[in-house]
Amino acid sequence: MLKIVDIPQISILRSFQEFVFGLAGAGSHAEFSSTLCSAHSKGENLAAKLQDEILASQEFRALIEDPIWKEISAEAFGCAPEDVSIILPNLRIDLPDRFREDSTRMLLPWHQEAEYFLSEGNCSPASIVLSTCLHDAAAQNGALVVAAETETSLLKHGSEYKDPENKRFLRLTVGEPGKFLPAETTFGQTVVFDFMRRHRSGNNTSDLVRITFLLRASRKSDVEEYLSGNMVATKQAVM
Ligand SMILES: [Fe+2]
Repeated sequence: MLKIVDIPQISILRSFQEFVFGLAGAGSHAEFSSTLCSAHSKGENLAAKLQDEILASQEFRALIEDPIWKEISAEAFGCAPEDVSIILPNLRIDLPDRFREDSTRMLLPWHQEAEYFLSEGNCSPASIVLSTCLHDAAAQNGALVVAAETETSLLKHGSEYKDPENKRFLRLTVGEPGKFLPAETTFGQTVVFDFMRRHRSGNNTSDLVRITFLLRASRKSDVEEYLSGNMVATKQAVM
């Protein structure tokens, strides 16, 4: 599964976007980006500071709990919203590529979501990712890059630390898929894709900071099936 979905009610996302921009005293994506880039140029890790502040906020909690995410996921699974669990929320703020040398910049190489999260006990190979940028995201803005085809099995990942000295930010990585594409979106759209599909962060050659709101979703019966050891490969491959 790979699809780009229009969020049915954009107002909640717009309010959250205003909240995030406001934390940097900004009224637009361009202003927000300019403030963060200038702070980082002076050695201040403002992206990490804001990320922590956002993750701890009531506004973030309210966004996660909005019913739209269960509705979008239920549509993807073909089940009722009550049968969906929203799990593993996150928000990432990633600086443009010209800050690549910044050791605090967290870029994700090719991976399957399944490898990161199956051990959590709240998802299955049939779980999905909902990735929403708080702004338009074209390829040059670092739009997510996604394999054109999903995988029928779990791939063996290598692992390395992005920061070998302090052993932070463990990265799991697999090789590049044969065909892939940037999942470009406009504000108000979400990229939905399955846990088996390879993907990576896009290269951001623009001056704009990428802000990504991430959720994962599981169909409750799939998790039970997976944890009981009865999930068959064909079910994973269908996604
Ligand atoms: Fe991922």
